[in-house]
Amino acid sequence: MQNEPLLSVKNLTVDLLTAKSALRPVDGVSYAIRQGQCLAIVGESGSGKTVMNFAPLGLMPTGVTTNLSGLVRFEGQELIGLSEPEVRKLRGKSIGFIFQDPMSALNPVRRIGRQIAEMAELHLNMSPRAAEARALDLVKLVGISDPAARLSQYPHELSGGLRQRIVIAIALAGEPKLLIADEPTTALDVTVQAQILRLLKDLQQRLNMAMVLITHDMGVVAGAADNIVVMYAARAAECGPVDKVLVNPRHPYTRGLINAIPRRDDPIGSEFRGLPGVPPTLGAPIQGCAFAPRCEFAVAACTRARPPMVPTADSNVCVACPVVNQGKAAA
Ligand SMILES: Nc1ncnc2c1ncn2[C@@H]1O[C@H](COP(=O)(O)OP(=O)(O)OP(=O)(O)O)[C@@H](O)[C@H]1O
Ligand SMILES: [Mg+2]
Repeated sequence: MQNEPLLSVKNLTVDLLTAKSALRPVDGVSYAIRQGQCLAIVGESGSGKTVMNFAPLGLMPTGVTTNLSGLVRFEGQELIGLSEPEVRKLRGKSIGFIFQDPMSALNPVRRIGRQIAEMAELHLNMSPRAAEARALDLVKLVGISDPAARLSQYPHELSGGLRQRIVIAIALAGEPKLLIADEPTTALDVTVQAQILRLLKDLQQRLNMAMVLITHDMGVVAGAADNIVVMYAARAAECGPVDKVLVNPRHPYTRGLINAIPRRDDPIGSEFRGLPGVPPTLGAPIQGCAFAPRCEFAVAACTRARPPMVPTADSNVCVACPVVNQGKAAA
């Protein structure tokens, strides 16, 4: 179906039950992504970005019981409720991923070529010889010079930027339709960050993949993403097309994040424009809008009830803010 999103998430809630506590790091979040598009998921540390994307794929650490509710539909197939073998079939093949910690994707004692080839053997049923040829193609695709020599190296022999390119090659080995990139540039230095981001964007377009780009940095979103979801304390605060949200952010939290981006014309030594305050601790009771205690526009209504996502009049942007949405009906 041409108009169906590739991935559609509706009212997703994730509960984590550990021996000591019951936590809800994702609380009723909805978004969709179409083939060939890039969706950025932005928010401060702990806002639920990683859990939201990886819990439906069964990628939570052992020792935690994960309860999911809502809908997570990938290519028309509902992921919530699938058995582990069924989800495993999608992981790494139809859905590729890059984890926040790049080293976790690499085996330190195995040659790079073998690690990429193994993924092609596993997901594309290739013979070892064909998979090795594919590994070489992938290393070229991610822009690594002297690719044949690199295949026989070990991860520790490469710089951080090259390692991240290998991680991307591994993520692409199963020819995924959707790539989930969780903070793919965080562990790199600034100049390399820009190169890796450009590479990911270029590959996403050339391979016509959908890409979820998880980041806490609003600065990387412009130019990379088509749509954005701004997360705050387990919930979506604002979502919509990136050009609309960046030019005219409605939610005070989105405005704060955009304001915090350093600008080229900032005088050297000028004060850091961070958001004052900190997000609520996960598990602490929240009355109304979770951002209200940090919000300079908060009114009494903000602490009364949880604000629903409401579409704005002039665009596909939705905002969960009682002040912005005064008098408007919920989405
Ligand atoms: N295995 C776990 N056990 C208990 N709590 C967890 C577990 N995994 C995540 N959490 C909690 O869930 C919340 C959301 O975590 P998540 O990793 O999704 O945040 P994030 O937005 O990806 O943050 P960051 O930008 O730091 O990666 C956090 O408060 C985190 O402490
Ligand atoms: Mg994370």
